[in-house]
Amino acid sequence: MPALYLLSVWIHILAAMAWIGGMFFLVLVVVPWLRAGDRALAGAFLRETGERFRSVGWTCFAILVVTGTFNLYMRGVRLGDFVRPEWLASPFGRSVLSKLGLFALVLAVSAVHDFSVGPRASVAIQRDPGSPEAERLRRQASLLGRGNALLALAIVAVAVTLVRGWPW
Ligand code: HEM
Repeated sequence: MPALYLLSVWIHILAAMAWIGGMFFLVLVVVPWLRAGDRALAGAFLRETGERFRSVGWTCFAILVVTGTFNLYMRGVRLGDFVRPEWLASPFGRSVLSKLGLFALVLAVSAVHDFSVGPRASVAIQRDPGSPEAERLRRQASLLGRGNALLALAIVAVAVTLVRGWPW
């Protein structure tokens, strides 16, 4: 069992790296480069790469939920703990709740970005890059993307406290 647990933690961390690494590459490298170039091409490029990264991202989310649940189980967490006030108030319980809360936010922001604002932005940019609609949707998509990047940093920070405890 310990070998399976170690494998689960390893896969969990790899899935987190794939999602966070991909997101930061898009935000810090691809989008700024596209902004300096041809806007109509940028729309097509963003649509193509956005759709591909969407599949990667949601696959990572599924892997994180499965391995994360198994990791919790191996750390002795059971469903009944989520209704026990003393566990909910414990440092470990607070880490788990904070992490699951942040993860739910990431899922909501990702769903709006990946299935609504993102696709509409790339179509509007492709159709008429200078239009007010393209500009509005591009700004919204960018805000959601950066919001998710910040949430990702918070999740990893809480993940560290889950394993090593809070600094205070
Ligand atoms: C975007 C989502 C997530 C990210 C980025 C993430 C990231 C991480 C990272 C980096 C660690 C290693 C921390 C360390 O060793 O210091 C970790 C551990 C852990 N994660 Fe996640 N995680 C995510 C979602 C989840 C979910 C949804 C669950 C529960 C269902 C979960 C449960 C756990 C558990 C229990 C550990 C401790 C593993 C151990 O026993 O050492 N995580 N996570």
